[in-house]
Amino acid sequence: MCGIVGYLGYRDAYPVIIKGLKRLEYRGYDSAGIALIQDKVEVHKSIGRVQDLEQSISDKDKSGNIGIGHTRWATHGSPTNDNAHPHVSNSGLITLVHNGIIENYASIKTHLEVYGYKFYSDTDTEVLVNLIEYVYKTAKVSLEEAVRIALKKIVGAYGIVVISNEEPDRMIVARNGSPLVVGLGDKEFFVASDATPIVEYTDNIVYLNDRQMAIIGDEEFTLKTIENEVVLPEIKKIDLDIEKIEKGGYDHFMLKEIFEQVSSIHDTLRGRVAIDGKEITLGGISSVIPQFVKAKRILIIGCGTSWHAGLVGEYMFEEFARIPVEVEYASEFRYRNPVINDDDIVLAISQSGETADTLAAIKMAKEKGATVLGICNVVGSSIPRETDSGVYTHAGPEIGVASTKAFTAQVTVLAMMSLLVGFKKGTLSSELYQELIVDLQSLPEKVKAILDKEEQIKELAKEYKDVSNAIYLGRGYQYPVALEGALKLKEISYIHAEGYPAAEMKHGPIALIDENMPVFFIATQDVYYEKVVSNIREVAARKGHVIALVTEGDNLVSEIAERVIEIPSIHESLAPLLTVIPWQLISYHIAVMRGCNVDMPRNLAKSVTVE
Ligand code: F6R
Repeated sequence: MCGIVGYLGYRDAYPVIIKGLKRLEYRGYDSAGIALIQDKVEVHKSIGRVQDLEQSISDKDKSGNIGIGHTRWATHGSPTNDNAHPHVSNSGLITLVHNGIIENYASIKTHLEVYGYKFYSDTDTEVLVNLIEYVYKTAKVSLEEAVRIALKKIVGAYGIVVISNEEPDRMIVARNGSPLVVGLGDKEFFVASDATPIVEYTDNIVYLNDRQMAIIGDEEFTLKTIENEVVLPEIKKIDLDIEKIEKGGYDHFMLKEIFEQVSSIHDTLRGRVAIDGKEITLGGISSVIPQFVKAKRILIIGCGTSWHAGLVGEYMFEEFARIPVEVEYASEFRYRNPVINDDDIVLAISQSGETADTLAAIKMAKEKGATVLGICNVVGSSIPRETDSGVYTHAGPEIGVASTKAFTAQVTVLAMMSLLVGFKKGTLSSELYQELIVDLQSLPEKVKAILDKEEQIKELAKEYKDVSNAIYLGRGYQYPVALEGALKLKEISYIHAEGYPAAEMKHGPIALIDENMPVFFIATQDVYYEKVVSNIREVAARKGHVIALVTEGDNLVSEIAERVIEIPSIHESLAPLLTVIPWQLISYHIAVMRGCNVDMPRNLAKSVTVE
């Protein structure tokens, strides 16, 4: 939610900031803006994307070695020029960019209005910038001190970068709840919401923690707490491949990421399931395996696609480790006063590692004494730093807003975890453990076999691209895949879609079936196969259009369904890793055919750092 970039050094700040904002557009693309320190601070803004901003200022002076930029996902106020960042204080003295939400902005605004402050936007950010100016002027303190005093008065989440006309050689950076990293170059500094805008300049990164501030000036970098205590910065080396954050010949990041699943699943398994080995090793959680084995319950929390991965994990842990599992939306869990016992394990799943609801749920579970583990993709993000231990997914950067390779990597980790715990606990036989390890190793090749069917899937997308509604049905391990298929379709093509357990159809959704309704079934070989085939017959009898995923060699379903896509055979617990892929591809092609912006669907952002 909103991307921030800042630069201070010897280069022209403008190209560094614009390129960085483009990398962060996945965080929001309602408007973009930039402020450059020239004789005084010059601000340019535009509604729409970063490229719209670039065009709108093509003839303007863009010189300056210090600057800040912002790409917005609207929270307070619609996407207008006035609401776009950077925001400037009333006298033009202070300029800032902000990611987050100031919860008590209304009362501060009223207070400032008494002192004659005027507000020209609907944003909470404009209140913050004026509060800093008010403190700066009335307390007659430095910019750093004014920011510190102002931040102590606000309630809410922020990642901010502040510059001023009166101290034109520095930037003040602060974080609480919204991510910010600082890149340390040679006589230059970079600030960003994540490391992707920075990697091509330096691999020395400092992740700001909550309630920390950085004071950045000419060859100066000081890290402090909001309470003004100096903190020794922990400089991390990041290993992020530039190619992985660019499109690499694909039309969209989403398609690239769908195709990357051959390697991302392989990378997730690498070093954990040895090629010729018969063991699973998960270093990140080895110390908590005894706790897992004794656990009376596992609580899995996440949002959206990560929550769907958690549902697959529920089936896995219950089957292999015989531990009861509850899967909760983090947003519900955090406010529900849930019962958490000492011998429960809380497992948080998140691609970005920054989802506000998941973070809040983790903090709450920790306060209640739970052991909290994470399954995350973004190394060094807030969730891995907040959890007791965990396992990274190693899917590589996921830029497309719709999650694809992160889902399969999360399910791969859940498979490894549940198999390992089940084996150690003795609830999973050595034979099945070995068999499933072999199946895990076969995944990349089977994923490739499905991706090879892209043309067939594209043809199918052509037939159904104009529908207004769709239903996705699956049972057991495939029920979460039905939910995920529906989510993918609705979020990028704006077609209304619902996922259900197939057997639930008769309890209501069947009323929707008519000659206009496509129903996407998962009818692979598992214990539910016969029953799902009956559901397919019921839909066909009502003239619904059946599109079905079946296991290779299935001859029955093709007699009833309009279209079938064959999936390589695999143990049913791992089949979601294969069946989700045709649904990703169908959604992608339908969305492209409908002219939708698949990488940046309307109203969405990749990293949901607000409630
Ligand atoms: C859907 C999607 C979202 C995310 C959700 C959680 O394609 O991407 O539903 O899964 O916002 O995000 P993370 O996994 O970053 O916590």
